[in-house]
Amino acid sequence: MAANRQPFLYPRIMTHNFGAGPCILPQEVFKEAADAVVNFNDLSILEISHRSSDFVEVMSEARDLVKKALGVPEGYTILFLQGGASLGFTIAALNMMRSTKRAGYINTGTWAKGAIAEASAVGIETDVFASSEDRNFCYIPKDYSIPNDLDFVHYTSNNTIFGTQFKNTPNTSAPLVCDMSSDIFAHKIDVSKFDLIYAGAQKNLGPAGATLFIVKDEVLGKSTSEFMPKYLNLANHAAKDSMMNTPPVFSVYTSMLNLRHLIKNGGVEAAEKRNFDKANMLYNEIDSNPLFKGAADLSDRSTMNVTFLLNDETLKTEFDQMWNDARIIGLRGHRSVGGYRASMYNALTIDSVKVLTEVMNEFTRKKG
Ligand SMILES: Cc1ncc(COP(=O)(O)O)c(C=O)c1O
Repeated sequence: MAANRQPFLYPRIMTHNFGAGPCILPQEVFKEAADAVVNFNDLSILEISHRSSDFVEVMSEARDLVKKALGVPEGYTILFLQGGASLGFTIAALNMMRSTKRAGYINTGTWAKGAIAEASAVGIETDVFASSEDRNFCYIPKDYSIPNDLDFVHYTSNNTIFGTQFKNTPNTSAPLVCDMSSDIFAHKIDVSKFDLIYAGAQKNLGPAGATLFIVKDEVLGKSTSEFMPKYLNLANHAAKDSMMNTPPVFSVYTSMLNLRHLIKNGGVEAAEKRNFDKANMLYNEIDSNPLFKGAADLSDRSTMNVTFLLNDETLKTEFDQMWNDARIIGLRGHRSVGGYRASMYNALTIDSVKVLTEVMNEFTRKKG
């Protein structure tokens, strides 16, 4: 297998990629993946059959590494499907639908709203029992009571656009479903609290193309939905080890390489510490620099996506020029928040964060 081949060395101009996703992966992973595009097993990874034993091995290792990285207990199935987290909204709703056809949703922004809309579209009555829309999603709702008789409760663990993140798992006796697209593998989680977790690969896992599902076995095949296309039924994928149809081979392969890299570098526990240090460094700069302010409430700030604003918007052109000159990319904020968003996924180094804080500091010195 291609596993132990030495990667080629590709020269690459140093950039600091703070993009929200698809995002930076470790350079070693890029190189090894590039190598396999040319020659994986005398064929390119792009042309091999997904039924070949070499790829079946990749899929199996990718599954095992997800289990290892997150400490997934017995009784859960790992799937790599397509359609992104956007199709995950529908898949989650359909597969978790039970007798009441009512589900509770926490509305913490654009992606949570997307999940609510897709659940409604497949006939779920959505009970949005908590929302932070009143302050443009700059916080995580805390004082809420969860209604009884829900088929499931759904939330978005990290709000990529608004820069907020749940610090605690919602406490409910209903089956719990979570969109972890932008913070899976970034910090430790207790998988046993969840019936279903899903995440688009393109943040901390690998290239766009694969969507990861971690599903409790007892969930499979229990949907009460009359509408259930074959592809959307997780039980079908579980029965075929994610190979019911052609899987996103390159994305799964690169995710597998990235998971190997994660585990070799101390696993999720070490990544969590690095992410905490990076976030602290940037938030300290934002809080101590008189020209900037954070966009999210202090207690709910995300370690993955840091949203911040200039106090004086007329300085924007000048500041933008400075960070562009420093080869920082992807810092522009989403239009629903404005300002800036520094996405600091696992592979972004603390050196890149240092470059950003130095630019902010230098900018303030210049402005007197
Ligand atoms: C939290 C979250 N959920 C869902 C999505 C949508 O993901 P996809 O593009 O994989 O459909 C995103 C995309 O950034 C996201 O950040």
